[in-house]
This record gives sequence, C-alpha cells and structure tokens, in this order.
Amino acid sequence: MKLKLPAPPIPEQLKPAPRRPGERKPSASDTLKEGGTSAVAWVDERTSLSGGARWMMFRKVPKGTNWFYTLGSATMFAFLNQAMTGVFLAMYYDPSPTNAYESTRFITNEAFLGEFVRGMHKWGSTVMVILIFLHMGRTFFFGAYKYPRELNWVVGAILLILTMVMSFTGYLLPFDQRSYWATIVGVNINGTGPLVGPYLSDFLRAGPDFGATTLSRFYAIHMLLIPGLIAALIGAHLYLVAKLGTTAPPWLKAESDPELRKESK
Ligand code: HEM
Repeated sequence: MKLKLPAPPIPEQLKPAPRRPGERKPSASDTLKEGGTSAVAWVDERTSLSGGARWMMFRKVPKGTNWFYTLGSATMFAFLNQAMTGVFLAMYYDPSPTNAYESTRFITNEAFLGEFVRGMHKWGSTVMVILIFLHMGRTFFFGAYKYPRELNWVVGAILLILTMVMSFTGYLLPFDQRSYWATIVGVNINGTGPLVGPYLSDFLRAGPDFGATTLSRFYAIHMLLIPGLIAALIGAHLYLVAKLGTTAPPWLKAESDPELRKESK
C-alpha cells in the first residue's frame, strides 16, 4: 500500500476569496483573463509603461480625420512585413557571389513556403514605396509640413531616402543578370553626384571595381544598417506625431469662439 502525505495547508493570502451570494463560478476564460490582467499589472507596476501607451494610443485627433490618415500606419505595416519576411529569407540566403543566385533559387523552388515569403518581400517592397509616396502626398497636401511639424517632415524625408536605399540594395541580392547590370548602372549614376558622388560609389562597390565583397556590402547595408535606422526613425516620427497631434484637413475651418466674435464686432 502506498502511503500518501497530506498536502501542506495553503497560506491564508493565497486562498481564493469566498464567492459572494449570487456570484457565479469563474469560468476557464475568466481565470485566463484574470491571469493576463495580473501579468500585465505586474509588468506595469515595475515599469509604468501603461502611461506611455495611453499617451500614444488614446490621444485626441482633429475633427474630419479620415482614411487618408491611415497611410502612415499602412507604410509602417509594410515595413514590418519587410522586416518579418526578411528574417526568414536571411535564414536561407547566402551573400557570396558563387552561391547567392543558387540560394535564391532554393528559396523559390525548394524551401517550405519559400516562394510565398519571397513574393511577400518582393511585392511588399513595391507596396511600401507606393504607400510612402501616398503618405507624403497626404501630409504635403494637408499642409502638415508647416509649423510646428517641420522637424517631422524632415524625419519623414530621411525615411523616404532610406526606403529608396532599401529598394536599391535589395535589388542586387538575387544576383541574376538583371540585378547585376542594373546595380552597376545605379552605382555609376551615384558616382556622377557632385562632390560626394565618387566616394559614394566607391563605398557602395567596396572599392573602385564591382568585386567579390560588393554583394556582402549591399547585404549588410540592406539587412542591418538601413532597417535599424528606419526602425529608430519611425520611433522618432511617431513620438513627434503623438506629441504634436495631427493636422486637421485643410477644408475644415476653425470654429471661432462666439464670445470672441462678439468682441471683434
Ligand atoms: C517609413 C516611412 C514612414 C512611416 C512608417 C510614417 C508613419 C507615420 C504615421 C503613422 C503618421 C501619423 C498618421 C498619419 O498622418 O498617417 C505620420 C505622420 C506624418 N508623417 Fe510620416 N511616415 C513615414 C514617412 C514619411 C515621409 C516620407 C514624410 C514626408 C517627407 C512624412 C511626413 C509626416 C508628417 C509631416 C506627419 C504629420 C502629419 C499630420 O500632422 O497630419 N512621413 N507618419
């Protein structure tokens, strides 16, 4: 016969509170919700992050805010899609001149869901470029570049340049005839720029000629340098959006205070 020791008593503080009259037995989903809430509360008590999250998420927006205001967030989601699919591509991609083409072929034809992920990344890059231009157009036509948002416009302009650099450096990576020759043309165009042009093209090529290290240089710029900068600048951009608020659409006239109107008569 097996002897079983009695379980140690549960301390008073850990015992569940007795149910009130009429209170139903908590369901499994109630317990789960409560668990989630107390985990979040535990983190919040130690970090006070909820204040920042509330400041960011529950800010006031002007009257007339419409679908055009979603273009910035849409651009951000396109960037997140690029970052996520890029991680999976990097698991199989090999940035060496002898293996790059073959590793891309492997991703497309053999890796599980490889063609899908590569397609998401390739088409996603075009989507991001279209969205960033539409978002810039929205902020331009709504006059959002004016005081006090000039700095956010400048941050946006840098984000636009970085997005272009992402497209340019990514184009070489499949390392087929088209990407190779198109990149040579692109780097030569960069070289014609005033003053910094020749230095820029040398930097991109990793030397005076297109060589074995050019591909790994493009890869490092494409998957480490620029995404890091873009992520940091999106953080700054969103901080400024939350701090300054968004611009009202230009067709909305500010409502003047009736008291002031009386005074000005
Ligand atoms: C990776 C690229 C970008 C992301 C993720 C992004 C994201 C956002 C988001 C989420 C907003 C707030 C909502 C909205 O107005 O859509 C915003 C606002 C703004 N963005 Fe961008 N943006 C990007 C690029 C740009 C570019 C290229 C410019 C201009 C050169 C720009 C200029 C602005 C301005 C001025 C505002 C304030 C809008 C207002 O006050 O109404 N952004 N951005």
